[in-house]
Amino acid sequence: MDPAKLILDGKEYELPIVVGSEKEVGIDISKLRGTTGAITADSGYGNTGSCLSTITFINGEKGILRYRGYPIEEIAKSASFTEVIHLLVYGHLPNKQELEELTNQLKSHRELPKGMKSFFDAFPTTAHPMAVFSSMISALSTFYPAAKDEEEVNLNVIRLLAKQAALAAYAYKHSVGQPYVDPRSDLTYTQDFLHMMYAEPPKAYEVPEVLDEALNLLLILHADHEQNCSTSTVRMVGSSQANLYASMSAGVGALWGPLHGGANQAVIEMLEMIRKDDMNFKKYTDMAKDKSSGFRLMGFGHRVYKNFDPRATILKEVAAKVLEGLGIEDPLLEIAKNLEKIATEDEYFLQRGLYPNVDFYSGIIYRAMGIPTDMFTVMFALGRMAGWISQWKEMRADPKGRIYRPRQVYMGETQRPFVPVDKR
Ligand code: SDX
Repeated sequence: MDPAKLILDGKEYELPIVVGSEKEVGIDISKLRGTTGAITADSGYGNTGSCLSTITFINGEKGILRYRGYPIEEIAKSASFTEVIHLLVYGHLPNKQELEELTNQLKSHRELPKGMKSFFDAFPTTAHPMAVFSSMISALSTFYPAAKDEEEVNLNVIRLLAKQAALAAYAYKHSVGQPYVDPRSDLTYTQDFLHMMYAEPPKAYEVPEVLDEALNLLLILHADHEQNCSTSTVRMVGSSQANLYASMSAGVGALWGPLHGGANQAVIEMLEMIRKDDMNFKKYTDMAKDKSSGFRLMGFGHRVYKNFDPRATILKEVAAKVLEGLGIEDPLLEIAKNLEKIATEDEYFLQRGLYPNVDFYSGIIYRAMGIPTDMFTVMFALGRMAGWISQWKEMRADPKGRIYRPRQVYMGETQRPFVPVDKR
């Protein structure tokens, strides 16, 4: 494709083009300031490609999501979360031997470092689990000295992916005042997490298959999503050569916001509000259209998907299946379906391409699994950890990689003399 032409202040410049494997076109502005003296302005980065990546492809118009070329619908139907970890972090679907190796590596690193359990006791039981989860991820770095080489980095990757389940489960156990349950290597990754969450020794806890399958699917659907807010944060922090734990802890912080991963908690709170408010759907859709209300339909809208989020389509089906499998009637599912129907027949939402996103139905499933609402975003993070790590590794492996340091256009005061305090 011919270079792009830019005419600035009467002068013409050529800008090289980069074309992706899915025919996406990027204008390479890496030399823009050096050749023209100008920079771009793109608040929120809606039109800016921060990197070239081979991990996840999204087509927002067509509702396409693929991890390393495999459609999310096919992965969701047939893969285990451990296979998806291998696909994202190591770049290919594992063969039987590789899968067994990764499974055993993760199993052998599930235990937390000695003494770390007592850290949880120091938090108030009312602490938000995202605060505990991000703190404890960073705290893991105090037990493992900075990695000297790639081998140690990869060992830290295994440690974090393996131990994150206990970190999440112990945050929950502390919040409900129950003793911590040690990981068990005779259980799969998902079974072991659910066992650590719900076992109350000496009572045994048999993990129901319907919950195990639902968790496996939820972790896979949340595993990666190209350059979203938290993944860009992980890349940004990692670009300063901060260690794995510091980078992932920062990702948890970014994900916590209600505009991002925190939306799954906000959706349930919104559905409960509608339920308590006599199912007054119109009041809430009207508020969502009134910018001055500050209210948004949580779980609706997406920066990239403008017709549908393929993950929401899958989760809507799974929500009904899990509730049926557990024999649970959750009125919030009907309220959610109703809200989706009303909103997706309303011009305001249609015009802006606002449809349910991944967070709209996921909370219904977490609720059915007995996960408390304030743990929903931790559940999101457990899946996304695989994606964050794969993106972090890709950023670090870039031979042309540099510290992320965007520019700005200054709009403040021009130079003026300092005024001493008695003259202000
Ligand atoms: C996730 O990026 C990712 O990939 C994220 C994610 C991932 O897997 O990592 O998919 C996970 O974060 C999903 C999104 C979860 N967040 C929510 O559900 C919160 C509610 N949604 C929004 O706040 C919003 O839709 C965002 C944050 C998701 C997207 O914001 P954008 O792209 O900045 O869109 P915008 O704010 O510019 O909105 C465009 C228009 C505006 O109206 P106009 O100014 O054009 O008149 O749509 C309106 C907005 O007011 N709008 C909404 C709305 N979302 C956008 N109006 C009402 N309710 C909403 N939810």
